[in-house]
Amino acid sequence: MSSSAEPLPVRASRSPALSGNVRVPGDKSISHRSLLLGGLARGETRVTGLLEGEDVLRTADAMRALGAKIERNEDGSWVARGNGVGGLLNPEAVLDFGNAGTGVRLMMGLAAGHGLTVTYDGDASLRKRPMGRILTPLKQMGARVVDCAEGERLPLTLEGPQDVIPVTYRLPVASAQVKSAVLLAGLDCAGDTTVIESEPTRDHTERMLVHFGADLIRETEGSESRITLKGRPDLVGRDVTVPADPSSAAFPLVAALLVEGSRVRLENVMVNKTRAGLLTTLEEMGAKITRENERELGGEPACDLVVEASDLHGVEVPPERAPSMIDEYPVLAVAAAFAKGDTIMRGLSELRVKESDRLAAVAAGLAANGVRHTIEGDDLIVHGGERVAGGGTVETHLDHRIAMSFLVMGLASEEPVTVDDGAMIATSFPAFTDLMTGLGAKIEGAAG
Ligand code: S3P
Repeated sequence: MSSSAEPLPVRASRSPALSGNVRVPGDKSISHRSLLLGGLARGETRVTGLLEGEDVLRTADAMRALGAKIERNEDGSWVARGNGVGGLLNPEAVLDFGNAGTGVRLMMGLAAGHGLTVTYDGDASLRKRPMGRILTPLKQMGARVVDCAEGERLPLTLEGPQDVIPVTYRLPVASAQVKSAVLLAGLDCAGDTTVIESEPTRDHTERMLVHFGADLIRETEGSESRITLKGRPDLVGRDVTVPADPSSAAFPLVAALLVEGSRVRLENVMVNKTRAGLLTTLEEMGAKITRENERELGGEPACDLVVEASDLHGVEVPPERAPSMIDEYPVLAVAAAFAKGDTIMRGLSELRVKESDRLAAVAAGLAANGVRHTIEGDDLIVHGGERVAGGGTVETHLDHRIAMSFLVMGLASEEPVTVDDGAMIATSFPAFTDLMTGLGAKIEGAAG
């Protein structure tokens, strides 16, 4: 996969009923964190179910460049060996994170907090994304931006301080990436690091820090939490089991809801409530989704989701739900296109700074396929019609989730939907086309 290679158009057409049992790949957020913490912690960490997508492989390479040993076993599990907190080295070359916002932002925190000087770069999409949100707290902790592109963007060189300054940082945006960068920067700090979030965001960093032996407390009052990490913990290698990614499960899930007669079982899906906003919303829209085999997997709540084709109706999605489904709005917009009545999604400003401007990309994709919609400020309103014309070509703007969302649309629309380039699907879901066609979906073209 490369953003400069020839585009790979992919086309999805109206499909017969989807059926089968499938396991989508491991969670991307947890996979990144398992390599960051496993590559840092003293001793051996064995990771099973790691997402072997481009984004996560960049994090593996970056950790190796800082001195961690990271290998893939023949059975598909991964082993990371680190030197403990304080044991990272300056890399010899630029760390290129490709398309991976989570990888680069979490690494900036970890590396700066270890006093390293690192140059970060990425693809055309990542170079457009704001890094100031990470640099602001890291500068308060003593880091210095040596060089960066205009607007505090990549390529960027960041120098960590000799001694990290303990901070209490209130998140100005509901971002788990910012929270995580600050906590990781606090690992090699002599004092405590506190992050205050006024709305809950995904808590995988906190869970995994505790799993590796950190002393971390969360105090919650209403929707606000204060998370405090005690510096210089003795992080020790642990086994990590990565549950299936709910953000990837969202694609076969919505496809099964939309394609008449479908019944699909999605196994081992993580249902941590900081990630479950799409499930809540689809259930409110009338989706038939049953949770079976509820259990814990790798310290996260997980279950099998049994999904049946359903008649959906529009709902209003409140802004405070956004952090728990931030990556799922594109595919929700597709579900909303087939739902009866209006679906109103409020408070989507963060969608503008993802792998693409997702608000604009979704609107353009809906328009190209004859779906009426309105954008009012940061709100998206999809005027659902139960039937979707399709027939359009969607520009993916180097965004995997735009590509997969509109391919799902094509499985139920009257005419096929084409996405201009499926290459980026490999960043998070390399087996997407195979998995979907295995369920009966008609998707042609080489994605990933
Ligand atoms: C992620 C957090 C989210 C999400 C991203 C993964 C993470 O970003 O969009 O795909 O793993 O922490 P923000 O925290 O910036 O909203």
